[in-house]
Amino acid sequence: MDPLLARQPEAIEKMFSRIADRYDLLNHLLTLGLDLRWRRWAVQWLPKDARLVIDIGVGTGDFSVVAFQSRPDLHIVGVDLSKKMLSKALQKVTNLKGSFAVVQADALRLPFGDGVADGVLCAFTLRNFQNPERGLAEMARVLKPGGRALLLEFAPADTRWHRSVWGFFVRYAVPLFGGLLADPLAYQYLAASIKTMETPTEIAKALRAAGFGWAGFAPLAFGLVVFFLGIK
Ligand SMILES: C[S@@+](CC[C@H](N)C(=O)[O-])C[C@H]1O[C@@H](n2cnc3c(N)ncnc32)[C@H](O)[C@@H]1O
Repeated sequence: MDPLLARQPEAIEKMFSRIADRYDLLNHLLTLGLDLRWRRWAVQWLPKDARLVIDIGVGTGDFSVVAFQSRPDLHIVGVDLSKKMLSKALQKVTNLKGSFAVVQADALRLPFGDGVADGVLCAFTLRNFQNPERGLAEMARVLKPGGRALLLEFAPADTRWHRSVWGFFVRYAVPLFGGLLADPLAYQYLAASIKTMETPTEIAKALRAAGFGWAGFAPLAFGLVVFFLGIK
């Protein structure tokens, strides 16, 4: 199988580094400019007394930026395979003067001890993991008891109404905006990774199996994107 489609970390890292300059534009287009609103809504679910938060697959840093806007007292560590993405995140977040650090690492082997974090953020990254169950188990491992994981992901909704919105998105929006990547391999990967996602019910089940005592989800934007909350 193609190393990228097999989600080999080196191939994933290379691809995201290649598209890092165009990533924000693609993301805003694919989410119809709504991603910042979803992120704002999602960060409300962090524990009220949260201090340390790990942003897994931080990319260019938008989830952390939004978290700092409502909670400037947080300490956030951004983790990513791609150095280029991390430097973009650092530039963006440093302007906010939040307490922010980055580390280049694989989300399937997080370089943190057990039970150190109050919160985990993870947006549009789960579908890139070679082993999503292991990624979820790593999130549970690094959280304190009562800590929360907040995930946003494109996931094929499991109700009929949501499925038609999803079908339209995969058939028309992904090819239209994905073409802007001007990178056929990255586009092929984007389309394949979105199409092969599990349903929200399956992902919530996987969160529970990974060590979260409670997990649930809420479809956003007519089921185009799904918010997941896991409480350890
Ligand atoms: C689609 S981007 C999402 C970025 C950001 N979270 C956002 O919401 O815009 C996925 C990011 O996850 C990173 N990534 C993918 N697989 C990873 C892994 N196994 N470990 C760490 N980072 C990973 C990629 O390098 C990329 O920056």
